[in-house]
Amino acid sequence: MNRPHLTAEHITRQFQIDGEPLIALDDINLDIAQGEFVTVVGASGCGKSTLLRLFAGLDIATSGTIRHADEQVVEPSLHRGIVFQEPRLFPWLTVEKNVSLGLLNSKLTKARKADLVREHLELVGLSRFTNVYPHQLSGGMAQRAGIARGLVSRPNVLLLDEPFGALDAITKAHLQDELQEIWAKENITMVLVTHDVEEAVYLGDRVVVMSPRPGRIREVVPVKLARPRRRTSSDIANLRDRVLKSLHATGENTRPKGLKSADDGSHVERAVALAR
Ligand SMILES: Nc1ncnc2c1ncn2[C@@H]1O[C@H](COP(=O)(O)OP(=O)(O)OP(=O)(O)O)[C@@H](O)[C@H]1O
Ligand SMILES: [Mg+2]
Repeated sequence: MNRPHLTAEHITRQFQIDGEPLIALDDINLDIAQGEFVTVVGASGCGKSTLLRLFAGLDIATSGTIRHADEQVVEPSLHRGIVFQEPRLFPWLTVEKNVSLGLLNSKLTKARKADLVREHLELVGLSRFTNVYPHQLSGGMAQRAGIARGLVSRPNVLLLDEPFGALDAITKAHLQDELQEIWAKENITMVLVTHDVEEAVYLGDRVVVMSPRPGRIREVVPVKLARPRRRTSSDIANLRDRVLKSLHATGENTRPKGLKSADDGSHVERAVALAR
């Protein structure tokens, strides 16, 4: 591997739920190379979004260190873009204004910012929709706007949290290919969280398989397939089966006594009982 560009070193994230500690992530170690495309899969509640937020600097680990280009990550940065599962566009702002929010903390001139916004709207195929409002966009177009906002500051890391989860299969396939083209062109380090194992294998250089209770890395599966890849190839199908097998492997993680693990459901049961 080239020198790691983005790293998680012994990351643990503990939350308090109902006054009790809950371990969302437990000793996560991951080195991601410059320009690598890493995908992350795992059951709901295993800590994928938590990990992505830590990489983004939107949250701070209970222990351990996140580094980006050798610097410790302690806050968000224009060098790290993030794309959320829902496009999270402000309904009262035009597409152009929504995308320019990705440059909110940038010190660039107004003219340069406008150029960047234009350039990135073009990159995601939304040039003709700069002055429309989010409700005038389809789901796929709104997600494209979210991707443009994540990319507009020209980050060298792009973090994507299930960006295509809510889209139909055809739109999803289009956007996956567009994202892959952008990645190849811009040499951005990508970390994409997904529930879709096929997507993880199709896009990733490596697939990180996480296990729940508490969130840990179970396995990292390399995808040594040349690009462009064929979705229907037997290689993709074999790797998908391998990742699925790893995901469904039994064997609960052990955890320190007295500490709740993430997503064991007990906090939900307590909440329901309280609400009664
Ligand atoms: N701010 C928070 N406060 C308390 N608990 C939290 C917080 N954020 C996440 N958690 C808990 O951490 C665990 C992991 O949550 P996370 O959102 O990272 O899971 P996920 O793998 O992204 O799940 P999904 O696939 O459903 O999106 C969950 O049990 C969740 O309840
Ligand atoms: Mg999530």
